[in-house]
Amino acid sequence: MTSWNSFYRRSEKRGPSPLLSEALRHIEDQGCRHAIDLGCGAGIEAQQLVQAGWTVLAIDREPEAIARTASACSGADDGVLTTWLMDFERLPELPASGLIHAGLALPFCRPDRFGRLWDQIRQALRPGGVFVGHLFGVRHGWATHSHLTFHTEHEIRSMCEGLDVLRLRESESSIDGDAGSLNWHRFDLIARKPFHHPGCRFDLR
Ligand SMILES: C[S@@+](CC[C@H](N)C(=O)[O-])C[C@H]1O[C@@H](n2cnc3c(N)ncnc32)[C@H](O)[C@@H]1O
Repeated sequence: MTSWNSFYRRSEKRGPSPLLSEALRHIEDQGCRHAIDLGCGAGIEAQQLVQAGWTVLAIDREPEAIARTASACSGADDGVLTTWLMDFERLPELPASGLIHAGLALPFCRPDRFGRLWDQIRQALRPGGVFVGHLFGVRHGWATHSHLTFHTEHEIRSMCEGLDVLRLRESESSIDGDAGSLNWHRFDLIARKPFHHPGCRFDLR
């Protein structure tokens, strides 16, 4: 992917994410209103979270994404938005969070780094914390790109073992891509860490 700028410009014309709105409805009071947005892009969901009263750590490796996210959240109070200009394949330990969002971002992690990244996400989720995001299915039109990561439903369910899967929706359709029609095979996932999670590193409420 050479430049995300046209994607960011298109994103800025769309509304907030219905999938993230759905995930927010699954948040029970857990005393933690800290969220992470992995691969934040133009910052539409970071802004949605800030407007919903969350403090947000937005992460992206593209300076343009970080600049647009800062601008989208510019009306917020100091300290509400933190940004990391960073490759999510090389993240340090993530801060404990009540919600982690990754919209159309995790598939861009290389397969050999994906397991570590997913483990970091699971570790950072507080008891009751929710992961929400997208994964690409194995019939995606980009599935021949070996640096991207694709999943079967069975693999996603295995990744979510020990989490409560609140939404796993598969969709597949042909869309108009830059180089003609493209099979778009996607999973929308919302999963919550149970309050009584074996081996979790946080105090249970
Ligand atoms: C398709 S865009 C999605 C942006 C936003 N989440 C949205 O849904 O509109 C993917 C974003 O992930 C970022 N990204 C891709 N691979 C990344 C990586 N390895 N580390 C950090 N960010 C990455 C890109 O820079 C881009 O901003």
